[in-house]
Amino acid sequence: MDSIKAPRGTRDVLGDESWKWARVLDVTRGVADDFGFKEVMLPIFEHTELFSRGIGDTTDVVEKEMYTFIDKGDRSITLRPELTASMVRAYLEHDMRHLSQPLKLWGWGPMFRYERPQKGRYRQFAQIDFETLGASNPLADVEIIDSSMEIYRRLGLSNLQVLINSVGCPKCRPAYRDTLKAYFESSAHELCDSCRGRLDRNPLRILDCKQPACRALTDNAPSVIDSLCDECREHFATVTQGLERLGANVKLDNRLVRGLDYYTKTAYEILSGDLGAQNAVCGGGRYDNLAEAIGGPHVPGVGFASGVERIVITMEAQGAYLGNEPKPDVYVISSVQDGTYDAAVIAHELRESGLSADMDFMGRSIKSQMKIASQNGAKFVCVIGDSEAASGTAGVKNMATGEQETVPRGSVVENIKNKIS
Ligand code: HAM
Repeated sequence: MDSIKAPRGTRDVLGDESWKWARVLDVTRGVADDFGFKEVMLPIFEHTELFSRGIGDTTDVVEKEMYTFIDKGDRSITLRPELTASMVRAYLEHDMRHLSQPLKLWGWGPMFRYERPQKGRYRQFAQIDFETLGASNPLADVEIIDSSMEIYRRLGLSNLQVLINSVGCPKCRPAYRDTLKAYFESSAHELCDSCRGRLDRNPLRILDCKQPACRALTDNAPSVIDSLCDECREHFATVTQGLERLGANVKLDNRLVRGLDYYTKTAYEILSGDLGAQNAVCGGGRYDNLAEAIGGPHVPGVGFASGVERIVITMEAQGAYLGNEPKPDVYVISSVQDGTYDAAVIAHELRESGLSADMDFMGRSIKSQMKIASQNGAKFVCVIGDSEAASGTAGVKNMATGEQETVPRGSVVENIKNKIS
């Protein structure tokens, strides 16, 4: 019988990688604290309607990529493909509108999209997600973009490009949609199959098609910026000027439209030069009508999400500091089979005193245990060989200097603690 493998598009994050994730999350939590975002933990599955109404029925995410099933109570349930709709749902459900505004929330966890897997693109992936709810002020957009950039700055990432655009609002977008449709209709035969389909349903999405023929056509397409209403134009100007004042290196990209329908006004992405084809490390923007789309009152919002796998890939490619792989302070080595109690007691006491300690359970020789201690990067070893067991002592060896001494069993912990401090 074939052994069972993890499903396509998922990956096991093992012990040689998980500590890198811990660094990403530590830094993210630090940025969240410094910007005043509170962590929330939301369900991994939601009613399907939340996403079909929130993200938009004609988006790839809703049309093709959702993991949807009928549960035992006959409800249509979907594994969340993103966090923004859930954030807004939670805000409405817990009446956060009546708290002091805005609400700045952040969260992280696995998301699910049935996409074609490739490097940096998975069917289960993790996002960190920041949302500011209840503020229409463009300075909230500036802060959101700044908070995402601050995470990458603290992680030591470089070679990133921040692209920004405005996608307008329901007042000015319909006219732009029509202009764009008319523009593409005259050369519809040159568009790829998917874009020909988008022509009626969502012509803005043609702007970010990666097919060379479509890209060539979009080069001369009318710019959304020229169609913005006064409110959207002013909003965009304040956002771009604000970012300039912060010294942020941001590039305008009139083709940036994003793949989720809820965006209004600001849309932005951060691309990494070290990711290959799936180069977006972060995406976000404003979504002033999302709350209404899912049945709530008007609640303006702006936020971003960033893929943890893509952050880690970028960090690895750039040789950024990935954090320290946890290593034991002490590896406790014992030669006496029934003396393993001694090793267990010493390891217990070391841990109780605040040090990290590890020991052998496999009955290995002293030599093999020493090898493992060295492979595990232990700073010290504590050896209870036959003679130490007989004399109630233990050998303490500094693995970096090779220095060793024999100490009474009762003072092992103190001895090592003094040496480490
Ligand atoms: P998104 O652009 O769909 O936006 O995803 C944000 C980020 O999640 C991407 O830039 C990428 O780093 C990562 N990502 C997306 N799909 C995958 C995948 N299949 N495999 C690995 N990583 C992936 C959103 O999700 C919006 N909710 C962002 C947002 C928050 N807008 C406003 N607030």
